[in-house]
Amino acid sequence: MSDALKRAAAQAALALVEPGMRLGLGTGSTAKHFVDGLGARVAQGLAILCVATSEATQAQAERLRIPMTTLDETPELDLTVDGADELDGRLRLIKGGGAALLREKIVAAASRRMVVIAAAAKAVDMLGRFPLPIEVVPFGLGATRRAIVEAMASAGAAGELVLRLKDDGAPLATDGGHLILDAHLGRIPDPEALALALSQVPGVMEHGLFIGLATAAFVAGPDGVTVIGDPAASRG
Ligand code: A5P
Repeated sequence: MSDALKRAAAQAALALVEPGMRLGLGTGSTAKHFVDGLGARVAQGLAILCVATSEATQAQAERLRIPMTTLDETPELDLTVDGADELDGRLRLIKGGGAALLREKIVAAASRRMVVIAAAAKAVDMLGRFPLPIEVVPFGLGATRRAIVEAMASAGAAGELVLRLKDDGAPLATDGGHLILDAHLGRIPDPEALALALSQVPGVMEHGLFIGLATAAFVAGPDGVTVIGDPAASRG
């Protein structure tokens, strides 16, 4: 069921793709459906140029022979389609469950439109049930951790910070060679304040709060796909 919902959300976003577009490709199991669908259309002759948000998505796109570029060659994109770990009614997101948040945010910020695709279980009234991923540099981890706790408190949030590990027990390294601290907050009463406070901590490369980036969302539930925002609208 859940996989069918992810595919339904991805199909809705595929309808936005037009010949000649420069696209950002998200990461995760929902974005994977979008990239699969895009690959099928490319095989039928669709001309597009894409930037991936992770090594995993890059590899998938290359397997599908989707024409790829980089933000160095193509610094402005028309549309990014990506999944999310949580989204609220104001299109504020938590991302980074797949550890790709840094590249995902860079690509989303370089895009005139960012459309989220998600199964309905990801839609929440208040962000925070999903642990907030915070990407940090390995140097000074203890000091960075303390500063993050203070930043969270200043924004009215508190909870355990857990270093993300791989299955073999070693710390997970992101595509950029950083570590992830997952903040188990339960609720984030003021996402804007928390985003600002975290961005001011030295050692924090990026955090998984995406605010003011998504322009629309396709949320797939058992009764169909609900649209939040305007899928045709650009940011700004
Ligand atoms: C990757 O870092 C994440 O931001 C994903 O986009 C997010 O975890 C959604 O993944 P799923 O589509 O697999 O739920």
